[in-house]
Amino acid sequence: MNDQKNFVNHIRPSFVPTGVLTVLYTFCLGGLSFLAFVILGITGLLMMFHYQPGDSSGFSSILTIASVIPYGGVIRNLHYWAGQLMVVTVNLHMLRVVWTRSYKPPKQLNWLVGVALLILILFLDFTGYLLIGSQESGAAATVAVNILGLIPGIGTGLAQVLFGEPSALSGSTLVVYVWHCVALPMIALLLQLYHFWRIRRDGGVRPL
Ligand code: HEM
Repeated sequence: MNDQKNFVNHIRPSFVPTGVLTVLYTFCLGGLSFLAFVILGITGLLMMFHYQPGDSSGFSSILTIASVIPYGGVIRNLHYWAGQLMVVTVNLHMLRVVWTRSYKPPKQLNWLVGVALLILILFLDFTGYLLIGSQESGAAATVAVNILGLIPGIGTGLAQVLFGEPSALSGSTLVVYVWHCVALPMIALLLQLYHFWRIRRDGGVRPL
């Protein structure tokens, strides 16, 4: 058991309990989610070299990435599809956890970490949609800002913190850009590392 408490041994464990590698128990849905996250990080970083947030610059830089920058179209598509895949695999992963009742003690804290991850992934998906800067993005941003505005007292301020001041015709702002490209991915990465560490601390992936 000491083996699992030491961080170095955690990265290179000296033993793996029998059964944890059974693919048909997890369907590797958590692993697939993480793979999608890594692809999103790499392709997202590459797009940051050319993307400029803003009312008019957002959409035009997306067009430049997709049709002028070498391999830009492939990278943008990879980013888009990895995002869609991640939303699907994370939800299926959560269903698997429910199916195998793995939310029960001692795994209840990791379940809550998972819920936080799910919210982060959905917010990443939404802010990514806003960064396209199309009229649809503008409409989505307007709906989100208006819904948040309904919260008494803090609503307007919260909308400002989360989205800045998006135009109804674009949705792409510097605030959304920083959330999507820096803050949310960093928080999600740290939380995923904690999620993985907790899996071992809770005794590994195995029927309870
Ligand atoms: C970024 C999203 C997520 C990633 C990358 C991720 C990754 C993983 C991985 C790799 C495992 C090991 C077993 C497996 O592959 O199924 C796991 C287990 C687990 N995950 Fe996630 N997960 C994510 C989101 C979630 C969500 C949304 C929930 C639930 C709300 C959740 C709850 C759990 C629990 C309770 C376990 C332990 C399961 C067991 O021991 O059988 N995770 N996760």
